[in-house]
Amino acid sequence: MEKVCNVSDVPMGTMKGFTVKQAYILLANVDGNFYAVTAVCPHMGGYLPIGTLDGKIIKCAVHGSQYDVTTGKLVKDVPAFTRLLTGGGSHDLKSYPVSVEDGTVSVEV
Ligand code: FES
Repeated sequence: MEKVCNVSDVPMGTMKGFTVKQAYILLANVDGNFYAVTAVCPHMGGYLPIGTLDGKIIKCAVHGSQYDVTTGKLVKDVPAFTRLLTGGGSHDLKSYPVSVEDGTVSVEV
C-alpha cells in the first residue's frame, strides 16, 4: 500500500487526482468512504479529476462518459455520434484497493 494523502485532503463528495508510483489515480470520497480508480478516461485520455462527481458517478469533462467510482464500471458511454467521430466508445476504469488508517489514505497500485 502506498500512502496517498490525509483523509481531510479529499472532503466528502469530492475527488482529486494523485500520481502514485507513476500511475495517475483518482481518489473519491463518497459518503465518507474512499475509492480509487485510474484518473485517465479510457475513451480518449481525458483527465477525470477535472470532470464532475455526482454521488458515486464520475462524468468525464471531455465527451461525457460516466463511471461508477465504487466499482470502476462504465455506466454511460459516449453518444453514438461521438463514438463514430472518435473511432470507438469507452470501457470500465481500473480500480485500486484503498485502505484508511490513522487519518491516512493508502492505495494498492
Ligand atoms: S475522453 Fe473521456 S469521454 Fe472522451
